[in-house]
Amino acid sequence: MIQRYSGLKLILLVVTLLMFSCKNQQKMEESSAPEIDRQWWKEGTLYQIYPQSFKDSDGDGFGDFRGIIEELDYIESLGISAVWMNPFFESPLVDNGYDVADYRAIHPRYGTMEDFEEMLEGFQKRGIKFVLDVVVNHSSNQHKWFLGAQSSRDNEYYDYYHWWPAEKGEPPYRHSLFDPEGGWDYVEANNSYYLHTFAEAQPDLNWENPKLRQEVYDIMKFWADKGVNGFRMDAFQFASKDTTYPEFPEGHEKEFIKWYGMRPQLHDYLKEMYKEVLEPYNVFAVAEGAGSTFQDAHDLVDADRKELQVAYHFETVDMSRTTDGYELSEFKEVFSRWDSAFADDGWLAIFLSNHDNSRLVDRFGNPSPEFRTPSTQMLNTFLLSMRGTPYTYYGDELGMTNMDMPTIEEYVDISAIGEYGMAVKQGKDMDEFMKQLNYMSRENARTPMQWNNSENAGFTTGKPWKRVNPNYAEINVAAQNNNPNSVLNHFRKMTKLRKNNLVLVYGKYEILKKEHPEIYAYTRTLGKDKMLILLNFSKEESSINLPEIGAVQESMINNYNSVEIDSNTVTLLPYQAVIFKIN
Ligand code: NOJ
Repeated sequence: MIQRYSGLKLILLVVTLLMFSCKNQQKMEESSAPEIDRQWWKEGTLYQIYPQSFKDSDGDGFGDFRGIIEELDYIESLGISAVWMNPFFESPLVDNGYDVADYRAIHPRYGTMEDFEEMLEGFQKRGIKFVLDVVVNHSSNQHKWFLGAQSSRDNEYYDYYHWWPAEKGEPPYRHSLFDPEGGWDYVEANNSYYLHTFAEAQPDLNWENPKLRQEVYDIMKFWADKGVNGFRMDAFQFASKDTTYPEFPEGHEKEFIKWYGMRPQLHDYLKEMYKEVLEPYNVFAVAEGAGSTFQDAHDLVDADRKELQVAYHFETVDMSRTTDGYELSEFKEVFSRWDSAFADDGWLAIFLSNHDNSRLVDRFGNPSPEFRTPSTQMLNTFLLSMRGTPYTYYGDELGMTNMDMPTIEEYVDISAIGEYGMAVKQGKDMDEFMKQLNYMSRENARTPMQWNNSENAGFTTGKPWKRVNPNYAEINVAAQNNNPNSVLNHFRKMTKLRKNNLVLVYGKYEILKKEHPEIYAYTRTLGKDKMLILLNFSKEESSINLPEIGAVQESMINNYNSVEIDSNTVTLLPYQAVIFKIN
């Protein structure tokens, strides 16, 4: 049972602390900290920019590099330490750039190479690192490698892809994540089927071929020479396949990663990449996906493996992908389990949203006008006070929300259209399907950035490529910039707090009262430094009794003006988030 605060009956010690009272923030606590392996990619916060949707400088309706250059001061003001940008390379844009036709060229929509270099320099001058999206599980079918490969089996690029010669009959079924027709497609010119884990236009590259691997390392060196500091390896767990192509049992695709990902040779490729690129250029790499077991994840990122440095898993964002929502008990359990598995070695990214998921506040908070602000602040407090590197998706620093898109005609995303096709094929209830798509579609998270309340939210002077969320009049940068209580300024305070307190980066995580149905409580400890984090995940007031409260010194973060403490009981308002420093 939750203890409810009854103000009149209890003699309360009301600790009224100025909202966000960070004034006594601790200096870096190296002196008291045990030995830690400090790395820039562990400290600070990474901010993800979807370039097509961030800021349009030339009125064509698509975001571009010059638009980002215009907003460098804003990005710096967030206090983030690195930017990860989604792909901007030459591409037919079947999957919005995750289908690359030339890895060394910029799609004209985003600008020129000179614009890119100016943008990169702008980040570097501000001490912000840059992480490039590397999409090398597959290329576009318009890449010169594939155009050559499909023309003839004798072509020099034929072995850059995976083929099944048609004289052997039909290939064993392979599932595709985007194509309801499956993962093989036939090419008449070379009388072979090629494999594609994603769309038909995204043929998988053959990593068994050392020439292909060398091409990829050369591409990475090209960008490292330009000064990028890290790589995000797209869909990389699928890069290695069982090329004997055994039959897979029916229904196997429900455990997609187990059947299609993390084949043992992957580690040989990664070790080679580490030696060729990561080590000599002193850059880091983060894997999209972490396999299907902790062992898989450790094998990718443990320091002594010399493969990658960070991985992100999908267990939290995969949790109950329906309008029914999620259980806080499961949320706590998943984060705690992953944290304890990585307490001694390895490093993870912490995220709850990105370009492949719907908006943070809709999935995990409460997007209603009444609770949007405190619930987004609470979630950002969570993300930035956990062990692991927080990844914040553009717009989540404002509390941008999902947008109502009830009919399939409005969707342009290949994944939404593919899922729709599969649902039709499987005879699903299409009203229910659309309801879930409207809630879960990743297109929700690709709407234009909301800068101000002028037409098109200040994103473009032209016609935006995607409709702007109508709530831009209330949710936008200009409205929040000077409001000390805004989601934006709470986010800024959190990045600062994390930067100034190594305990929030490296400190040991311990969950408290894990069975509490509404409050997520935990401590972070590093040497003699200790923080207590209390997060109310509910729209009701809720109390928690903790002996640790006795040792509370001061509140470092609070998204309300005060917090009520009665002896060992703290009462939190709806979605209240407080971080206390304790003795
Ligand atoms: C994962 C990316 O995050 C996603 O956006 C893309 O569609 C697939 N990989 C295919 O590249």
